[in-house]
This record gives sequence, C-alpha cells and structure tokens, in this order.
Amino acid sequence: MRRTLIAGNWKMNGSLAANAALLAEIRTGLSGQSCDVLVCAPALYLSQCADLLAGSDIAWGGQDVSMHASGAYTGEISATMLLDLGCRFVIVGHSERRAYHHESNELVAQKAKQALSSGLAPIVCVGETLEQRELGQTNQVVAAQLQAVLDLLDDVAVSGLVIAYEPVWAIGTGKTATPQMAQDVHAFLRKQLDNRGVEIAEKVRILYGGSMKPENAKELLAMVDIDGGLIGGAALKSSDFLAIINAA
Ligand code: PGA
Repeated sequence: MRRTLIAGNWKMNGSLAANAALLAEIRTGLSGQSCDVLVCAPALYLSQCADLLAGSDIAWGGQDVSMHASGAYTGEISATMLLDLGCRFVIVGHSERRAYHHESNELVAQKAKQALSSGLAPIVCVGETLEQRELGQTNQVVAAQLQAVLDLLDDVAVSGLVIAYEPVWAIGTGKTATPQMAQDVHAFLRKQLDNRGVEIAEKVRILYGGSMKPENAKELLAMVDIDGGLIGGAALKSSDFLAIINAA
C-alpha cells in the first residue's frame, strides 16, 4: 500500500515571521493524520524548518537541487546541503523551472539522479500545457518527461522516486483537472513505471498538483492512482493545508 503524501510547495513566498506562524499552526493543527506531510520551503528557510519542525510529523524539503555534487556553480544548492539541513525530499522539474529556467527533460533527470544518489527522494514534476492538452499530446508529453528520468536510473533508484503530475494549465489558475482526467494520466504514468517491474509501479507514489484545495482534495485523493498532492497556494494557509491533510 502506498502511503498518501501531502506536500506543500511554498514557491518564492514567506518570511521568517510568516513561516514561524504558518509552521506553528500546522504543527499544532495536526492530529492523527493518516498521511505523510511535507513542506518544501525556499532553501534559505530550511534551517528554520529544521529548528521548528524537529520532532514533529512534518518533513521538510527543497524546491530544486543542482545536478552537480559540488564545486564552482555559483548560486546553486547541492543535494548534500539539503541533506545537511535535514531534508528528505526535493522537488525537481517543476513546470515553473522548466518554463522560466529552461530546464530540459535531460537536466531534470540529472537532478533526480543526483538527489537519489545522495539519499534524497526527488519529487519529479511532469505535466502538459493547455495547448499540448488541446492538441491531444498529454500522454506523449508526460511520457517523454518521465522516460528521460527512467533512462538514467537503475531499478533501485526508480523505486525511490516520487512523481507529481501537474497539468501546467491547472497550476495557480483555480482550474483543476477533474478527478477522472487526473486519474487517466496517473494510470498512464503507472503503466510506464510497470515496464520497469510491477513492484516498482506499485511502490512509487504519484501525486497530483494544480489548484488542489479543501473543496476538491477528497475527490482527487479518492482516485486509485492518486497517492497525494503537491499543493501551492493552499499550502500557504494553515487551515486549507490542514483541511487537505484531513481529507487524505
Ligand atoms: P497550486 O500550485 O496549488 O497553487 O496550483 C501547485 C504547484 O505548482 O505545485
């Protein structure tokens, strides 16, 4: 059985004061949840997360990682640095990074590989634009995004992946894929994982992201191949984030 993962992606939001308040509210608001909970904070605030979340049921992670282990890469953050701050997860290939930082499928795959070889679980984001969906290219696009990652990894590493299906047209727009639309893509991705072995396909969690909120979380999370959520806007409001956790 895959354990549901509810992951917040704070993106470039927050401050020491705002984070402290948000984390305290989430921490005190959790009670008997049956899912894993994660917040992916801006890298500068990960040591604050480590301080404020130590001993809690909430994990913290990064939003990006370098494909390189260390060295002359000004401004970059390595997987071992994230581990040093207690991270267990890191998002890679978010559509905002693919779009604004021109990250290719191959670069995203290298980042996932670097994370895994350092002991971090990468949350690999895949998803189509509205134009690609309208052209009927959804499966083709997400398959190419996932395949680039699979091609670089051995089976043990593939088992350590988390995948997030995030249709680009649903991110931050208030438009959500219907549960069935999301389920269809999740099932398609799981079939692709199945080429590497049925145990791998059964183990890897596939999260949905794109305007997940308290009002739609239950229906989305009820789908058989949706194993959690990657949540942007609603992760910045403790009552919304807690409501999604409670829906899981
Ligand atoms: P959203 O963002 O929930 O605000 O749509 C999700 C994401 O980009 O990970």
